[in-house]
Amino acid sequence: MKIIDLRSDTVTKPNNDMLKAMIESDLGDDVYFEDPTVNLLQNKIAQLFGKEEALFMPSGTMANQVALLVNTNTGDEVIVESDSHIFYYETAGPSILSRIQLRPIKSSNGEMNIDEIKNAIRDDIYYLPKTSLICLENTHNRHGGMIITQEYINKVAELAKENNLKMHLDGARIWNAHKATHIPLHQMVEKFNTISVCFSKGMGTPVGSILIGSKEDIKKAIKWRKILGGGLRQVGLLAGACLYALEHNLDKIDIDNQNAKFFANELIKSSRISLNIDKIHTNIVTFKIEDKINPNDFVTKCKVKGILLMHIGDNKIRTVVHLDLTKDMLLEASKIIKSILEEL
Ligand SMILES: Cc1ncc(COP(=O)(O)O)c(C=O)c1O
Repeated sequence: MKIIDLRSDTVTKPNNDMLKAMIESDLGDDVYFEDPTVNLLQNKIAQLFGKEEALFMPSGTMANQVALLVNTNTGDEVIVESDSHIFYYETAGPSILSRIQLRPIKSSNGEMNIDEIKNAIRDDIYYLPKTSLICLENTHNRHGGMIITQEYINKVAELAKENNLKMHLDGARIWNAHKATHIPLHQMVEKFNTISVCFSKGMGTPVGSILIGSKEDIKKAIKWRKILGGGLRQVGLLAGACLYALEHNLDKIDIDNQNAKFFANELIKSSRISLNIDKIHTNIVTFKIEDKINPNDFVTKCKVKGILLMHIGDNKIRTVVHLDLTKDMLLEASKIIKSILEEL
């Protein structure tokens, strides 16, 4: 049976050309900073994002956690959106590693209300935690791949500046936002101290994330990465895949974004699905199925027919379009999903 895997854009497998690029990469020991492929990738990324330095990371989670370690001190408080990856999916890492407290603020689209952020910033009093950092996520995963606008980022940055706070961006899927808005990457991240980006999502590599920031911050990040066991040796093998992705897959992200709209337009033809097409900004299509339908039954029935999906709570189903899915596969998936919903 042909499987159509819509659970995430992390499920892609490297094609032969990417594997060839990996195998042909020049290698060295990156703990001694001697891997030419990693060095090339890090320099390219720092330049592309307009920051001083960049550092290869094994995962997006490690890149975010190291960013928190770099930007905060023990006991600080960090403002995050309540559905952000850092708050929702990083297994309380900030309380274990940075020993900080997260201050989650709810939003409907990943953009926390500015007044609520303002109210959450602590006064400088000894019996209160010190607010030191604001984190944003672009695109926003649990808000269905929505794009955080530059106008909003500028407002948060103004507030951060007034209050002497740092800013971190979880840009795991910044590529999708960049392609959808045509805003240059360096402009999108100008206001942030640190940025994490992933290659193992829309860019289609098997492994690889990068933390980007100032020379001083990356110096601290190198130490934290080593402490966390992320100092890798001949990692040019993986960086080679990222360089390949920059050259060959970045432009294909546009196709994913467009295919997601196509898929969403097919899904809304079902009366059992609620989906706001205006909220499909990039490659994630989250839809709600009727309350009377058991979401686990639905996901299981889809699986039996070869369609893999993810229930993310509240009868909401997340699907993610990626490199390994064609428009025809999405059309077929939408037909199967709709017919299963009719049966339930
Ligand atoms: C927005 C966001 N940030 C970070 C991550 C973590 O990446 P990784 O799975 O490489 O740890 C993910 C993973 O899905 C994500 O969606």
